[in-house]
Amino acid sequence: MSQHEPHTTENLTESSAPPVSRRGFAKYLGIGAVVAAAAAVIAFFRGRDQAYPVTTIGQIDEIPVGGSKVFAYPQNDRPCFLLRPAEDRYIAFSRLCTHHGCPTFFQPQENVFNCPCHGGVFSAQDGRVLAGPPPKPLPQLILETRGNAIVALGFVKSA
Ligand code: FES
Repeated sequence: MSQHEPHTTENLTESSAPPVSRRGFAKYLGIGAVVAAAAAVIAFFRGRDQAYPVTTIGQIDEIPVGGSKVFAYPQNDRPCFLLRPAEDRYIAFSRLCTHHGCPTFFQPQENVFNCPCHGGVFSAQDGRVLAGPPPKPLPQLILETRGNAIVALGFVKSA
């Protein structure tokens, strides 16, 4: 074909889309599978900081529905609350106020955590600040049940 010859549809197809061999296509599929697997792993661990220990913090049925207990996580000087708001539901929060670190107290009648130091109040549903000077919610733990054990995996990353 000369330089002045008009392009035909056939010519454009051949020049703009190089043929992909079966081997090349399989290679693209393989790369796609690896990328998809990596995305799944990232999604699985999203929200969990690998620096925190995996620790058993309680046992199923150890506390009654509506009850609570204090435990330490991730170190002995870091008290937390484990709550059982429903038969099959457990949630846990750091007990330490996000204002100046005073220990909070669970008030089951109002379903809140009260901080006696400066009047901070946190929701026991999700740890959000309801009143007072605390700048951030109470950190919530990531929990998992393994058999009869309730296991802490770290803290939910705040947005
Ligand atoms: S330390 Fe809790 S409100 Fe100030």
